[in-house]
Amino acid sequence: MKSSEIRDKFLKFFESKGHSIVRSSPLVPGNDPTMLLTNSGMVQFKDVFLGLDTRPYSRATSVQRCVRAGGKHNDLENVGYTARHHTFFEMLGNFSFGDYFKRDAIQYAWELLTKVYGLPAEKLTVTVYIEDDEAYDIWAKEIGVPVERIIRIGDNKGARYASDNFWQMADTGPCGPCTEIFYDHGPEIWGGPPGSPEEDGDRFIEIWNLVFMQFNRDEQGNMPRLPKPCVDTGMGLERLAAVLQHVHSNYEIDLFQNLIKAAARETGATDLANNSLKVIADHIRACSFLIVDGIIPGSEGHGYVLRRIIRRALRHGHKLGQSKPFFYKLVADLVAEMGLAYPELSEAQARVEQVLKQEEERFGETLENGMKILEAQLAKDGKNLDGATAFTLYDTYGFPLDLTADICREREITLDEAGFAAAMEQQKKTARAAGKFKMAAGVEYAGAKTPFVGYEKLAHDSKVIALYADGVAVQQLSAGQSGIVVLDTTPFYAESGGQVGDQGVIDAAAASFKVEDTLKIQADVFGHHGELSHGVLKVGDAVAAAVDEATRGRTIRNHSATHLMHKALREVLGGHVAQKGSLVDPDKTRFDFSHNAPMTAEQISQVEAIVNKEILANQATQAQHMSFDDAVKHGAMALFGEKYGDEVRVLDIGSSRELCGGVHVHRTGDIGLFKIIGEGGVAAGIRRVEAVTGEGALALVQTLNRRLLDAAAALKTNPEELGQRIGQVQDHVKALEKELAALKSKLAAGQGDELATQAVDVNGVKVLAAVLDGADVARLRETMDKLKDKLKTAAIVLASVADGKVSLIAGVTADATAKVKAGELVNFVAQQVGGKGGGRPDMAQAGGTDPTNLAQALAGVPAWVAQRA
Ligand code: ALA
Repeated sequence: MKSSEIRDKFLKFFESKGHSIVRSSPLVPGNDPTMLLTNSGMVQFKDVFLGLDTRPYSRATSVQRCVRAGGKHNDLENVGYTARHHTFFEMLGNFSFGDYFKRDAIQYAWELLTKVYGLPAEKLTVTVYIEDDEAYDIWAKEIGVPVERIIRIGDNKGARYASDNFWQMADTGPCGPCTEIFYDHGPEIWGGPPGSPEEDGDRFIEIWNLVFMQFNRDEQGNMPRLPKPCVDTGMGLERLAAVLQHVHSNYEIDLFQNLIKAAARETGATDLANNSLKVIADHIRACSFLIVDGIIPGSEGHGYVLRRIIRRALRHGHKLGQSKPFFYKLVADLVAEMGLAYPELSEAQARVEQVLKQEEERFGETLENGMKILEAQLAKDGKNLDGATAFTLYDTYGFPLDLTADICREREITLDEAGFAAAMEQQKKTARAAGKFKMAAGVEYAGAKTPFVGYEKLAHDSKVIALYADGVAVQQLSAGQSGIVVLDTTPFYAESGGQVGDQGVIDAAAASFKVEDTLKIQADVFGHHGELSHGVLKVGDAVAAAVDEATRGRTIRNHSATHLMHKALREVLGGHVAQKGSLVDPDKTRFDFSHNAPMTAEQISQVEAIVNKEILANQATQAQHMSFDDAVKHGAMALFGEKYGDEVRVLDIGSSRELCGGVHVHRTGDIGLFKIIGEGGVAAGIRRVEAVTGEGALALVQTLNRRLLDAAAALKTNPEELGQRIGQVQDHVKALEKELAALKSKLAAGQGDELATQAVDVNGVKVLAAVLDGADVARLRETMDKLKDKLKTAAIVLASVADGKVSLIAGVTADATAKVKAGELVNFVAQQVGGKGGGRPDMAQAGGTDPTNLAQALAGVPAWVAQRA
């Protein structure tokens, strides 16, 4: 059964059981700081499990693209070593939101596996959480699985609820006991049933995990119950395909076979079983989809996950002997394999290739050099790699630690990870001392979320509910101290969706805190960063929070203009324009988008005209809340990074409609003037425009005007006539240049006349070898032509010296070329001044690097000609 059929049958089965088919969300979860990448099907439903969000359905099914290459679930280091680990995989899942629970979940799974996919029941073994008698009984009594194939698994990972049969999304978030279904690949493969000492073998493979979501784990490890028990299941498409295609390893299934062959084609490998090919085939999937979902290789966060995977793939290519860029060439093969199921992949093909190629070119050289450093170190000690070398490889050669670890693992070398961490810490300390680090998200906080009232008002009375200094919770801040204030309600907008955080003041009865920035310290918990100007601010204090109106005003003008500009860009450049990032602050809007060519001046003016027309129309802006699907139905632009599936906020600004949580102007006319100030490329296939509005646009116009006046004054004219005046000046310059050229040529002619008199007769050929001071090659040629005319039958060499370099030209008149060849003549001289040259029999040129012998070489010319004439 082909993978595409497996996907189809899964969705159709659950659809027939009343589930809504929900499409895969992107690999970057919307607005959830606890989670870097989508690691399972439930991520897009997290808030539904938590009761924070509702959907029009209570049963859903999906095929979710997932990456497990960082965070709680990280399989990166296993890829290439096992038959079933991947960085990228597709998860088939069904979900119940307070609807059915254990019984139906188990029954559906069993029916699908044994009836629809036709797996023999006796090949299946199941596990349940040790305390879960309910699930145990359903398997034993209702499904009829023999008890010797129902295994109870306890807390086998060293802590309460740390168990293979207790699933949690991340360190915090929804979790619960689970029951897992294993497929027995047969006794010829080594391994034992789950819970046995041989469980890590490849015989019994977990194919489906049914999680009974019941708790929400918080940072302190408390586990309050979810509002309603839910079901979250996940089955790896690749593992199931291996079973249904009767192969043992995931890498033998249809989805991988062509990719492995393509990897062999591009690296020149001949052994298709080589593990490095599997690594490359796995990594091209992860990397391509990460790029599709808007990630570009970088040095932190998502970008670094992507970079690590790309570099690991490149290292494996290098190991196979490929030192040139090759990885990007596999994108086409991936599109052939998965483009139908994921049209967004086909659409992004060119961009994905460009991004990968650029990263390959960047890392190519350092990879080579880094490997040399590593080999040199290993030649000294073949058993251990010290932390300092690993850190140098990381810091100077761009080797992510897991890449170095991968090499060490292959060669059975122990890597001193603690030493690496120490070196890293040392560097951070130095950097921190240099004041480079700002306290960021992630301080400990267990209170409520912050209601935001800043859409409607800029000032609000509220209460301090937490304070932080140097990253730890404190009871009070004193004058001069920097820290973070958390309020029970705030009018301050926290940085998100590209809009920077608000500034302003928080005043208590006897204290004043200057807010320099507002950033979320957790999802929807606003941290006001700044410094206490005077007094003492305590937890519990009643305060008046006031956003700086002028700064906020400038920011929102830029933000609203960004929406209009996005729409205008799509109108002018085409529907392929998609937002790739944005930064909106009081000074400007900076907008990155996908487009392959620089914008022309004409296109820039068109965009400006469209946006300004919308501004002049002065329409009221409107924000509405609706379901994501409705929003899309109503034509809203769904942007990368938005929280899909949630109730969303839809912003109508002029004729634009976007999903956006940001703050905006009331009417488009509030934006004032809109003007683009720059356009350029930032990465392969990604352009960036910067624009200003309101006072910013006015300031720009005034600056431009001042420059114009200054320029006009310098040319002693007025702005109206400046163009004409510049034309005159240019004409004048041109005339002068012409005159100068004529004079030079006259001078050369004069020199020519004078030189002609120096020619000596050698058997009927006039021979001249001379230096022309300060002449460039054009002048040498011109003089040469004149001399040939004058001397009739002649062999001539002219030289000039500039910046220690010799230019040579030789000419022989047509009636003498039978005896003397210009090419040989010029070479005769050139060889003596450290050069080489050649050319036609009548005209040849050369250069030399050593002028010291020039006079002597030229003096030898008559004798050289004498031998030939
Ligand atoms: N969320 C569960 C898993 O990933 C189903 O295994």
